[in-house]
Amino acid sequence: MLAHTAALAPSLTVQGLSKSFGERRAVRDVSFDVARGELLAVIGPNGAGKTTLLSMLAGILEPDTGTVAQPDRTTARIGWVPQQTAVYGKLTVAQNLRLFAKLEKVADVDATVRRMLEQTGLEQRADDELGKLSGGNRQRVNIAVGLLADPPVLLLDEPSGALDPRQRERLWGFITALTDRGTAVIFCTHDIAEAERHAHRVLVLADGEALFNGTAAELKAVADADEGHDLEQAFVGFLRERGH
Ligand SMILES: Nc1ncnc2c1ncn2[C@@H]1O[C@H](COP(=O)(O)OP(=O)(O)OP(=O)(O)O)[C@@H](O)[C@H]1O
Ligand SMILES: [Mg+2]
Repeated sequence: MLAHTAALAPSLTVQGLSKSFGERRAVRDVSFDVARGELLAVIGPNGAGKTTLLSMLAGILEPDTGTVAQPDRTTARIGWVPQQTAVYGKLTVAQNLRLFAKLEKVADVDATVRRMLEQTGLEQRADDELGKLSGGNRQRVNIAVGLLADPPVLLLDEPSGALDPRQRERLWGFITALTDRGTAVIFCTHDIAEAERHAHRVLVLADGEALFNGTAAELKAVADADEGHDLEQAFVGFLRERGH
């Protein structure tokens, strides 16, 4: 695992991001950094603003105020794996990757598709229809699409929601391999145990506000968890104390 020291240049710097939909303030003045190779979990109740935040980071939703900066701007934009993905069930794995590589306008489509098949460990499934793959393998293809342009930062919106425990473990093995290579990954989840197990840091959002940014252990300490309480219980208590 890469060391996460303050000396490490951030891959992404988010400052004062806000977004309203009419009267609804979905994201309020959120700021944070993500370092190279860091895995950040965004946790918060339904409607907290997690998807809105990620959509702004991905550049598909314009913020009302604030900035998203990539200080090390050597590479392309940020990779985005939405909850509702756009892959085609009737096409094969390779055909999907080829289609999205063309849409992404990558320089060498064939080489990129080969690289993605290798990176996702899906070489043997290249000619299988996507709709016939397991949920875990389909999610790998979704992530491969997000990684086509070799982005320094990858955003995942509830990546493991529909997966069984074994498929989840495989997915996390895959995501950890990405962060070990230096990709920064930001993911939203409702699975607090998963955030605790895999993320280096957690950002707690509630009603659009960032209430906490630190390690799971620090969150437990801040939440003043009772002896024997797990992070989920500490998290619920933390939100309740702050009126959410
Ligand atoms: N396009 C939109 N138009 C109007 N309101 C929106 C829109 N997108 C999100 N909202 C509102 O903004 C708030 C934040 O929504 P968002 O989807 O970001 O929450 P979330 O944390 O991702 O929730 P969940 O855990 O249910 O996925 C909610 O109140 C939602 O209804
Ligand atoms: Mg959401």
